[in-house]
Amino acid sequence: MKPVILIGFMGSGKSTIGKNLANKLNLELKEMDQLIEKRLEMSIAKLFETKGEDFFRNAEHHLLKEVISSEGVIATGGGVIVHEKNQEILQNSDQVIYLNGQIETLYERITQDKINNRPLADSVNQTELLSLLTTRKKDYEKAANLIVNIDEKTVDEITQEILIWLREEAQ
Ligand code: S3P
Repeated sequence: MKPVILIGFMGSGKSTIGKNLANKLNLELKEMDQLIEKRLEMSIAKLFETKGEDFFRNAEHHLLKEVISSEGVIATGGGVIVHEKNQEILQNSDQVIYLNGQIETLYERITQDKINNRPLADSVNQTELLSLLTTRKKDYEKAANLIVNIDEKTVDEITQEILIWLREEAQ
């Protein structure tokens, strides 16, 4: 089975849905941010601070090339779509699922998340975050084979929607 790839903005639930989906499908979850942190032995925030965003995007690109070639559920980072070569890779993949949410939902989740430290969402307001989302939205949509609206849905509802689609696609 080809990898199932979750894309979407920060706060869209890629990691949470990815975990649930991977459990249901009995597949390994590859959480890209966690893998980068583990391999480079540095937090994402520290990487941005000491090495810069370009360095992080490069590491993200190399990791995407690696994980895309094997089975599993891939939870990408929200900015995976920024690198042009990643856009190409994702557009050429066929189980790319875009978790699409309204800015209000995303902003609320990001500001309430006390675990993940997101350098690009640090001390920005909802309007600033919306302008970042707007620059990316078309690219998420272009890469997606399935778009799932996440607003007001539970993790299980979203997971079910994806599972049904995957089953249909497999037929
Ligand atoms: C980023 C999203 C983050 C993380 C990094 C950059 C982005 O991942 O990769 O902070 O550019 O949108 P999440 O989408 O999991 O928060």
